[in-house]
Amino acid sequence: MNVNERLAANAALVEQALKKYTAEEDVDFAAVLAAERYSLLARAKRIRPTLVLEFCRMHGGSDEAALPFAVAVEMVHTYSLIHDDLPCMDDDDLRRGRPTCHKAFDEATALLAGDGLLTRAFGMLALAPVSDKAVRDAVAALSRAAGSFGMIGGQVIDLAGEDKKLPLDTLLKLHANKTGALIAVSAELGCIAAGLARDDARTRAAREFAQSIGLAFQIVDDVLDATSDTETLGKSIGSDERSQKTTFLTYYSAEEAINYATEVTQKGKSALEGTEDSTFLLALADHLLNRKN
Ligand code: IPE
Ligand code: IPE
Ligand code: MG
Ligand code: MG
Ligand code: MG
Repeated sequence: MNVNERLAANAALVEQALKKYTAEEDVDFAAVLAAERYSLLARAKRIRPTLVLEFCRMHGGSDEAALPFAVAVEMVHTYSLIHDDLPCMDDDDLRRGRPTCHKAFDEATALLAGDGLLTRAFGMLALAPVSDKAVRDAVAALSRAAGSFGMIGGQVIDLAGEDKKLPLDTLLKLHANKTGALIAVSAELGCIAAGLARDDARTRAAREFAQSIGLAFQIVDDVLDATSDTETLGKSIGSDERSQKTTFLTYYSAEEAINYATEVTQKGKSALEGTEDSTFLLALADHLLNRKN
């Protein structure tokens, strides 16, 4: 199986749904809708919605059930990028191969577009053709992962790590929260869409897999920020160095960091051992480790 082809097919499915749910409207506040679409529909990997779709499929659920959850998580992720790029955060000019939202529009519109996407995401969860219990579980899971006990908490530690070297265990917590939490909940949402309970052993295994993959994903992101180029990455490079962030490169060479990410990926993959039909997800874990953008 070709991972790139399957990723592209999933991305196309997700993008079709994103377009459907964010159609242009002739309203007085059209500027904020345009800003939402500008960031949402730009070139992106769609890794989180892919995890939603693939975990749902692996556990026998339908794409129809998973897609609203997949769209929701991509909306939350896109909002986090818009806000992450703002001058009061990482102050970056390029994202997804385009000027950042606040550069293309203005800061207030970018702030509100982020707010709009985050809020809309929870409405998306309610649209999924799944049981009421599944919707309730999805709301609880996404709210926890995206909020102060998840991604937001991670972003707070991230900012505290500017101009000050955070201890390694704090850096691990930072990565687990700012990036791992949303990736882990993507896998969980796929299980929920397939009708599994949150405490089902299969859902727990999915979370464990994705939490590890998420940590590896952020380690690779730290390395790419220092070693890639803007064209390949589609976003500003050298951003961490400019902000004097504590990252994996504060502690390790690029090569050591990749070795670390490789070990973490192996550990994550072992959580899916013995799971039927996990071939694509296991291949995806390696693909993300070796990614160039
Ligand atoms: C970027 O996420 C932010 C991180 C958490 C590292 P992605 O690398 O998934 O960005 P897109 O969605 O493809 O633009
Ligand atoms: C971003 O971390 C995590 C988010 C919650 C958006 P980074 O600040 O490293 O992400 P990039 O490198 O700007 O995409
Ligand atoms: Mg940041
Ligand atoms: Mg950033
Ligand atoms: Mg980064």
